[in-house]
Amino acid sequence: MRSFLYRKADRYDRMLRWLHGDTLGERFGEIAARIGENRRVLDLGAGTCTLADYLHPSCSYVGAELNEGFRAHARARGLEVIDLNVFDFAAYPDNVDVVVAADLLHHLVPNVNRFLKGLGASAIPMVVICESYPYGASLFTKVFGPLLDNDGVNNLPARLRHHLFDEFTEERLRRDMAAAFPGRESEFKILSERTTPGKERRGWDTMIASFRLAGAVS
Ligand SMILES: C[S@@+](CC[C@H](N)C(=O)[O-])C[C@H]1O[C@@H](n2cnc3c(N)ncnc32)[C@H](O)[C@@H]1O
Repeated sequence: MRSFLYRKADRYDRMLRWLHGDTLGERFGEIAARIGENRRVLDLGAGTCTLADYLHPSCSYVGAELNEGFRAHARARGLEVIDLNVFDFAAYPDNVDVVVAADLLHHLVPNVNRFLKGLGASAIPMVVICESYPYGASLFTKVFGPLLDNDGVNNLPARLRHHLFDEFTEERLRRDMAAAFPGRESEFKILSERTTPGKERRGWDTMIASFRLAGAVS
């Protein structure tokens, strides 16, 4: 069952801003900068389609999201959004230049590597993955976080196990992505809250990784 956070788009947006503060604008700004201009962008697990607000106006955007309330909210903002499971690779729209998966991987546990390999096997010229993972998280956060963050689609027990015993690290994300995107040109950046006053001991690191097919126009 979906948590109260995923039942209302406004509520989800407010919580995200509270949780990630300034780094939210930083992360979407960085993703948009890597995408550049004149690209057709497919945003997988788009949530409320916040990324669309940061893209260069010459880009066209399509969000893929299973949450019908979030899709309705995005459509009311004039955005194109489709009902698509991110594992249904064959159903991805044609003519997409860039696929983005922002804050999605932890929802897909225990099938993260299947997802990454599916993307890696595609001919999409550019893939951008953005994932946040906590440092110094308390036991309370590790248990309460996934309950609050329950999208109602994915495997909650597996996600609880992941956050309690097997949390993402920079090293592991780099390794799994390198295995999924062999031969692609890659770029990694970490946005960290560790230097933010009050967040030195507990907060979030965010990895932004992009993978270009060799020869893809930059
Ligand atoms: C944490 S939100 C991230 C939203 C957005 N990308 C962002 O960065 O704000 C993850 C979203 O992925 C969606 N989602 C989870 N599994 C999915 C799947 N298999 N196919 C499509 N969407 C999925 C959820 O409904 C949720 O809205």
